[in-house]
Amino acid sequence: MNVLIVYHSDYGNTEKMAKAIVSGMRATHSDVNVELQRADASSPDDLVAANVILFGTPVHMGGMAWQMKKLIDDCARLWMGNELEGKVGGTFASGGGFGGGGGGVELTLASLHSNFLEQGMIVVGFPRTALGYADGGLQWGAYARTGNHEGMPAGITDAQLTAARSYGAHVIEVAGKLFASS
Ligand SMILES: Cc1cc2nc3c(=O)[nH]c(=O)nc-3n(C[C@H](O)[C@H](O)[C@H](O)COP(=O)(O)O)c2cc1C
Repeated sequence: MNVLIVYHSDYGNTEKMAKAIVSGMRATHSDVNVELQRADASSPDDLVAANVILFGTPVHMGGMAWQMKKLIDDCARLWMGNELEGKVGGTFASGGGFGGGGGGVELTLASLHSNFLEQGMIVVGFPRTALGYADGGLQWGAYARTGNHEGMPAGITDAQLTAARSYGAHVIEVAGKLFASS
């Protein structure tokens, strides 16, 4: 099984999540082939070569970073040929958040899902019974709120990284079952 994790990160939070997801995958499936790529270094052909694709982004003004959106739009030609159909997708994001709210993370993750679904992929969410969900989970995927109560950057916590690892393990478990039965 080839896994590709594509992300954008300006300040390192989303990148830490991406690396935690890799370690969660490897912890339960030591033989899995996982590659990490920044969005601006990725290409549609890289996505075609993978069985499992995860997208991660910081929340920027209520949506995904433009580097992710550019890759997604560059993949429109894959839609023409149904080239991503049947692959497994997963999503993760970090955002500063505001007050008790997510600052747009739900919209961000849902729009990543929307792209995967548009491509005919099977999207794996984050079940609330999974380890770490209460600290770094949303039903759409792994989430880390990185802002403090004043709205200033506070970094990512170990508990949020535990959740990201748990999400990685969950996605690979589901993908393993799907591909084993085909
Ligand atoms: C241009 C810009 C816009 C942002 N807009 C939002 C936002 O709308 N909602 C939010 O929750 N956080 C927002 N943030 C905060 C980032 O999402 C947050 O700091 C995130 O953890 C950064 O991830 P990174 O370290 O991977 O770059 C914004 C940050 C930047 C730089």
